[in-house]
Order: sequence, then structure tokens, then C-alpha cells
Amino acid sequence: MSSPSENSLKIGIIGFGPFAQFLVKTMIKQGHFIRATSRSDYTDLCNQLGISFFRDMNEFFESDNDVILLCTSILSLSHVIKSLPLDCFKKPALFVDVLSVKEYPRDLMLQCFTTQGCKMMEMTCEEHDRLSSRSQFLTHTIGRVLAEMEIEPTPIDTKGFQKLIEVKESTSRDSFDLFSGLFIHNRFAKQQAWFGSTCIIWYISEFTNLMNTNNTQLRNLELAFETIKEQLVKRMNEGLDPS
Ligand SMILES: NC(=O)c1ccc[n+]([C@@H]2O[C@H](COP(=O)([O-])OP(=O)(O)OC[C@H]3O[C@@H](n4cnc5c(N)ncnc54)[C@H](OP(=O)(O)O)[C@@H]3O)[C@@H](O)[C@H]2O)c1
Repeated sequence: MSSPSENSLKIGIIGFGPFAQFLVKTMIKQGHFIRATSRSDYTDLCNQLGISFFRDMNEFFESDNDVILLCTSILSLSHVIKSLPLDCFKKPALFVDVLSVKEYPRDLMLQCFTTQGCKMMEMTCEEHDRLSSRSQFLTHTIGRVLAEMEIEPTPIDTKGFQKLIEVKESTSRDSFDLFSGLFIHNRFAKQQAWFGSTCIIWYISEFTNLMNTNNTQLRNLELAFETIKEQLVKRMNEGLDPS
């Protein structure tokens, strides 16, 4: 059996019938962390396999999964999807189905997520990572830099500053694992980070020259970027799964 590694995933299985039981043996060998839920009670079997079984679907959804594997029967999928407590999601997860038909689950899932207010977009993995390095990773980085600078609302905040406070607060609620994952496993984010830090250093030195002074705020900004960079590099060098 493989020990957990940085490639180990937290996989939540919905529907623990014969096919899921077959798949799970390989996943355990590969070092993934498995938890399952099903209509029937598989607590004893899961205990034997050394994995968690949740009778309660809400608790299952709160159990922090990277991947949700739908392994129910074709005929029950519609019912199962409609009963998912999507509000209990703690973080984004990849939904995968193993059904022996493909258009049917795709249409059901698109329908379900659309009614939850999600806009579905088709794109390649490369396109996704390229775009998210410019949006998601950049937002998280700026938010963490602002947190590091300990920016707080003031009585004379501009709209722009209020938005910065919002970015700081929303990114501070996310885990450092999420932030470092966005960097470590997205090659475009690494390019973005290099470009971003080059720009910041350039701006700081230009401003410093222009003002002919060692401005405290600029110095704080530079230090905050340095701190975030060091934390990311440290996390990357550790290369370990936190679980
Ligand atoms: N068997 C294969 O070789 C194979 C290969 C590729 C893909 N698949 C696909 O894998 C999936 C699972 O297949 P399977 O072989 O394990 O047997 P299955 O009879 O197709 O599905 C059994 C699973 O569906 C659940 N289920 C059935 N009715 C339900 C309902 N009304 N509400 C909630 N859950 C319900 C069962 O839950 P409980 O056990 O808790 O009752 C069990 O987890 C299917 O979609 C199948 O097409 C199977």
C-alpha cells in the first residue's frame, strides 16, 4: 500500500455498491483518503477497509473532499443528485461519475448546478489554469499581501479601498493549503508570480527614486510580498500533504 503523498486526494464516494467497493480497493492502495456514504449502511465494511462511512449526507459533505465520486445506479442518479445538500460544501470539489452511460449524468449535473446559480463553461484544463492564474491566484496573493500589511477600514475609505478590504477578508477565510495549491500545481501561476514580483519591485524602486525617500508604506508592501513569497516557497519545499 502506498503511503499518503502530495498526490493523495480526499475522495468522497456516494453510493457504496459493488462497483464502488471494487474501485476503493485500488484507491486505498494508491494512498488516497476515502470516505463514503450510501443509502444502505456500510459501516462494518468501511471499518474493515479502514475508511470512514457517513450515514448522514450533510456530515459527508462537510468532510472536506477534493473529489466527489458518484457511484450510484443509473436509475437512482436523478434522485440522488436532487437530494445533495450542496449548501454544506466547504470548498470547491471536482464531481466525477462512473455511470455506464455518459450523456445522462452530464445533463443531470449541468441542470443541477445551473439551478444552483452556477454558470457552466466548457474549456480545456490548460485554458482553465491559464485564466485562473490571472484571476484566482492573483486575487489570493493580493489578499494575503494586504492581510500581511494589516490593512483595516478607516472612516474615510474610498470605494476602491473598501474593495481591497473585501479581498483581504474573503481570501483570509481560505486556507493556506488552498493558496499554495493554486501556486504549486499551476504552472501559469508560477509565471504570474515571477511577473508580479518583478512589477512590484520595479514600482517600489521607481517610487522610491521619484520621491527620493524610503517610504514606510512602500517598504511594508515590499516586505509583505517577500513574506508571502517565502511562505509559498517553504510550502513548496515541504512538498507534503497536510493530512
Ligand atoms: N459494475 C460494473 O462493472 C460497472 C462498471 C462501470 C461502471 N459502473 C457503474 O457504476 C455504478 C454502480 O454500479 P454497481 O455495479 O455498484 O451497481 P448498481 O446497482 O448499478 O448501483 C448500486 C448503487 O446504487 C445505489 N442505489 C440504488 N438505488 C438507489 C436509490 N434509490 N437511492 C440511492 N441509492 C441507490 C446503491 O446504494 P446502496 O448499496 O446503499 O443500496 C449502490 O450504491 C452504476 O452507475 C454503473 O453503471 C459499473
